[in-house]
Amino acid sequence: MPHAAELKTDAFWMPFTANRRYKRDPVLFAAAEGMYYVRPDGSRVLDGIAGLWCVNAGHRRPEIVQAIARTAEALDYAPSFQMSHPLAFELAERLCGHAPPGFSQVFYSNSGSEAVDTALKIALAYHRARGQGQRLRLIGRERSYHGVGFGGLSVSGIGGQRKAFGNLLPMVDHLPHTYDREHMAYSRGEPEWGAHHAEALERIVALHDASTIAAVIVEPVAGSTGVLVPPRGYLKRLREICDKHGILLIFDEVICAFGRIDGAFASAYFDVTPDIITSAKGLTNGAIPMGATLVRDHVYEAFMQGPDSAIELSHGYTYSGHPVACAAALATLDICEREGLFSRSRELWPYWESAAHALKGLPKVVDIRNIGMLAAIELAPLEGKPGQRGYDTHRACLARDCLIRSSGDTMLLSPPLTISRAQIDQLFGTLTEVLKTA
Ligand SMILES: Cc1ncc(COP(=O)(O)O)c(C=O)c1O
Repeated sequence: MPHAAELKTDAFWMPFTANRRYKRDPVLFAAAEGMYYVRPDGSRVLDGIAGLWCVNAGHRRPEIVQAIARTAEALDYAPSFQMSHPLAFELAERLCGHAPPGFSQVFYSNSGSEAVDTALKIALAYHRARGQGQRLRLIGRERSYHGVGFGGLSVSGIGGQRKAFGNLLPMVDHLPHTYDREHMAYSRGEPEWGAHHAEALERIVALHDASTIAAVIVEPVAGSTGVLVPPRGYLKRLREICDKHGILLIFDEVICAFGRIDGAFASAYFDVTPDIITSAKGLTNGAIPMGATLVRDHVYEAFMQGPDSAIELSHGYTYSGHPVACAAALATLDICEREGLFSRSRELWPYWESAAHALKGLPKVVDIRNIGMLAAIELAPLEGKPGQRGYDTHRACLARDCLIRSSGDTMLLSPPLTISRAQIDQLFGTLTEVLKTA
């Protein structure tokens, strides 16, 4: 590996990055272990965001590394078009075993974006298979993030990420987001106010007619847009309205699944069963790319009607169910089951919540939100420079060896679930120090 100072940084066009600013002062990690990243000079950084919300079991777990190596040596690649390999079937069974009742099918992809596009395509094709091909409309929500494919981006609700690409999917509408600082600032867990926002779906149905709507997609907790926790009762009401009008409900659990909220899937925590669940990130502990779209029986059955020689869903990726990714996911599930990681957040939640809310009253803090092992500390923006305070705070924490993400002026925390109480103190203590001295 070249020494950091000699590294040429020109040719890598970095995603979601201010490339010119970054390249003036690059941040590099050369290794990782447990709760830490290691810089090229050997110094360690406490990981407060699980890489990018994905390393739920902590970094470089030997079982996962070995499973990857072992599988690559035995079977570097196998397609899943008209053939496959045992690990893909084994993993699908294991995932369905953790999913809410009624989920019997897994469709593999390589990322959260692809898992979302897969879910949207399944929803459209499902209605068509049932003779309702006019149900073409997809409903997303403001301030949501569903990845960067044209499908996911079309239903996403972050204006700044959409505006450069003009030509998104037609026949899309959006629910209003549920965040209202005036009514829910400093809520702990689900805000008591705001379930009525679900009624906006009835208005959308009245406007377009249910017969044109295929699916509603929401993140149970909106993650990247700032940990927007659903008001108590909101998701249940969305489910009721979808049922009433024959609309499929998709939960995008790319962040929420695999222990981040509580349990393997957050739908169980919220006691709401969607028709389709998307996942990625924590599925392989971030060690290798993989997405999975989980589908309920009744959706799958709608496709299994024609002659059995017909391909039921014309969709898939060269790397759907890649053996190395399946091996990484199976090893991740082994760790999570053995170490009880899917219920670890329940154990840490009260401590995590108190540590987060202890920042109330610090300079520039205007709201604090938390659920499971997620937290957001929202800061007042610098006048005329939205996002600058968040970025500066992120870099100041990094200079103090803590990785805390910023999204605009909101500081986001989502550490590996293996975090200790002392490390929770270190994360929030560092943020406190930075905010006090800023
Ligand atoms: C809820 C949600 N959906 C989809 C995605 C896209 O996942 P990926 O970046 O793996 O394509 C993300 C990524 O953060 C996400 O948070």
